[in-house]
Amino acid sequence: MVTLVGVLRRLGPIGRRLAWNRQFRNGTGFAGERSPVLLALLGTQLAGRRIVELGCGDGSLAAALADDGWASYEAFDISSVAIGLAEARRLPRVQFRVAEMDAWTPSDLFDLLLIEEAIYYLAPGKQTALLDRAFAAMGPGGRAVIAIHSAEKHAAIVERLRQRYRVLTDRRERDRCYLVLAPPA
Ligand SMILES: C[S@@+](CC[C@H](N)C(=O)[O-])C[C@H]1O[C@@H](n2cnc3c(N)ncnc32)[C@H](O)[C@@H]1O
Repeated sequence: MVTLVGVLRRLGPIGRRLAWNRQFRNGTGFAGERSPVLLALLGTQLAGRRIVELGCGDGSLAAALADDGWASYEAFDISSVAIGLAEARRLPRVQFRVAEMDAWTPSDLFDLLLIEEAIYYLAPGKQTALLDRAFAAMGPGGRAVIAIHSAEKHAAIVERLRQRYRVLTDRRERDRCYLVLAPPA
């Protein structure tokens, strides 16, 4: 079935923004329940980190990680409606901004990139281009944590990431996959 959201998403960045805004306005944007596996995995990575989250949605991951020992937290999403919801949480020290992943370039030093259920909204070549850009901007010890829901459906992405980067952790939970990646050696 062809849906309005489906049509909008094919219309480039403006269409994608409208589509996601519509979903967040309807309450179907994605109020993802937080995975205990992801939270446990992140718990060991956060202390002192300068975090960037892409595709942050309504800020629920940032809320779950609030005051978890990190140094800074900037979170971006294509949807201004999602960012409005995230800002309404009034999380101390978390900066939420509207930005498309594809156009995002790091403005500050950071060392931990989080992408939860969002990397597949970029075209295949753009996924690794984004991670390459992020790793280039991160200091030594930079890490990316990528959560992929439905590892089977997105097996090609998982494989592409596994081939290109150093996989420090590959945790599976039901059909979900959580990768902690470091830049190629
Ligand atoms: C399935 S939701 C996941 C939201 C959040 N990460 C979570 O797990 O709750 C996908 C998110 O990616 C955002 N998104 C989709 N395409 C994007 C893009 N090109 N740039 C930035 N954000 C994007 C959407 O607006 C949405 O918030």
